[in-house]
Amino acid sequence: MQKLKAGILGATGAVGQQFVRLLADHPWFDVSALAASERSAGKAYVDAVNWIGSDPIPPSIRDMRVQECKPDLDCDFVFSGLDAKVAGDLEAAFAKAGYPVISNARNYRMAENVPLLIPEVNPDHAALIEHQDWGGDGGFIVTNPNCSTVGLVCALKPLSDAFGIESVQVSTMQALSGAGYPGVSSLDILGNVVPYIGGEEDKLETEPRKLLGTLAGDRIEMLEMAISAQCNRVPVLDGHMETVSLRLRNTASAEDAAEALRSFDNPLAGKGLPFAPEPFIHVFDDPRYPQPRRHASLGGGMTVSVGRIRPCNVLDLRMVVLSHNTIRGAAGGAILNAELLVDQGYLGA
Ligand SMILES: NC(=O)c1ccc[n+]([C@@H]2O[C@H](COP(=O)([O-])OP(=O)(O)OC[C@H]3O[C@@H](n4cnc5c(N)ncnc54)[C@H](OP(=O)(O)O)[C@@H]3O)[C@@H](O)[C@H]2O)c1
Repeated sequence: MQKLKAGILGATGAVGQQFVRLLADHPWFDVSALAASERSAGKAYVDAVNWIGSDPIPPSIRDMRVQECKPDLDCDFVFSGLDAKVAGDLEAAFAKAGYPVISNARNYRMAENVPLLIPEVNPDHAALIEHQDWGGDGGFIVTNPNCSTVGLVCALKPLSDAFGIESVQVSTMQALSGAGYPGVSSLDILGNVVPYIGGEEDKLETEPRKLLGTLAGDRIEMLEMAISAQCNRVPVLDGHMETVSLRLRNTASAEDAAEALRSFDNPLAGKGLPFAPEPFIHVFDDPRYPQPRRHASLGGGMTVSVGRIRPCNVLDLRMVVLSHNTIRGAAGGAILNAELLVDQGYLGA
């Protein structure tokens, strides 16, 4: 297959840098355009970016010129790591000009005809693309969920399929990289926990119901499931950890739940998508695990970890979930979405 040319909108941001890093050796996609704000446009990438990764900037990208976010980029489709304040208008402009847009931003996630995708969870929802009409030939928008939603929903999916879920209580411990750069002030977070992340609880209480919902023609019927979320920022670099309690529709023991997670029938199995991790979910028996510093990067940051599955004295079961927020929860998740769309014929056909 000839490689597809990918543009990156918001290429200088925290998520944009992950796109640059993760796409450097991608077997299906070549980065052909970088775009960001007027502040960065016209500069070489190395001069525009405040590179926060520990590996150097990939040599093929270092001297590439950053362009303005205008829909005249030389590429077959774009990834968007744009600031949500500008993503709405800019992503729409690209879709109208005929570009497929694979976005991380929140702006279109809950739009009725826009897929909110996790490939292992709801690949069939991609069919909503057929109900988008931006006026441009071939343009569409596909989104991936908020970084705290991703880990939760990956862990809920096998349990929802096996037993049904009535309600969820979740408390998050979210990493600093989730706030972008420079993010939270060091004086606010060092030796501290901040029990508020603007807008996050609302996303965590609504996005899972769309992701676990049912495709009904040109819309998604949301799953009936109550979610109560409490979101906290903690002094961890990467990896969102969540403690989760569940009320199930059908009785299951902790062992049943662990078995359902381990034996989940992954719809990506055998497809050979480069960013699909093996395993999709890692279940720990050791009660000390998962931990962000040790396990956020499992499967290249794409594997979701679950541990401490046990009975709950108030609801039915409780567990701990961990996922890498800027890889599975942002750039890596978007790259896997693009791979799924290639496999389904929506990209590069
Ligand atoms: N960080 C995470 O873990 C995470 C996870 C999931 C989703 N997201 C979402 O992903 C998006 C990016 O997050 P981030 O953490 O990478 O943010 P960030 O570090 O603040 O980066 C924002 C990017 O948007 C660009 N930008 C800002 N204003 C612009 C304008 N007027 N025109 C064109 N480009 C503009 C910036 O370019 P300049 O450098 O030129 O200003 C930069 O490249 C957000 O929508 C966020 O909610 C983030």
